[in-house]
Amino acid sequence: MLEHRSAPVESLVYLPHMTTWDLTGTQRLVLLCNGDTCSTRGADEVTVALRRALREQGLDPVVHTARTRCLGRCDDGCTVVVQPDNIWYRNVTPDVAREIVDQHLAHDAPVMGHVSFVPHGDALVQLSGTRPGTAKPSGA
Ligand code: FES
Repeated sequence: MLEHRSAPVESLVYLPHMTTWDLTGTQRLVLLCNGDTCSTRGADEVTVALRRALREQGLDPVVHTARTRCLGRCDDGCTVVVQPDNIWYRNVTPDVAREIVDQHLAHDAPVMGHVSFVPHGDALVQLSGTRPGTAKPSGA
């Protein structure tokens, strides 16, 4: 005879891994695109390298990172954005990720050879060498 075992309903519900960091003291947020295109170009390795460099530089308490889906600049992948600086990076590799930490995040000196957009006044401007994008339809 089969033994019937029942479990509380709560134990059958899948609970995704949840993280709730204390962000007190955070000065910057780094968005690491892990969308489809960037993932095929090594986004996971970029993410791991950047986070490792942050730990090595002791910047974890002041720099928060988040993996994102597509940031809308696939031609630039791997795409990384540093906020609130509003600096957009293109063609980021693990080596460039370490430079972003060592130069930009540690010493306020963006890695200009990989910057695609920078703030100018109230808006972003595109730097030369960055592929133009498609204009968004109004209201998008
Ligand atoms: S998948 Fe990274 S910008 Fe589109």
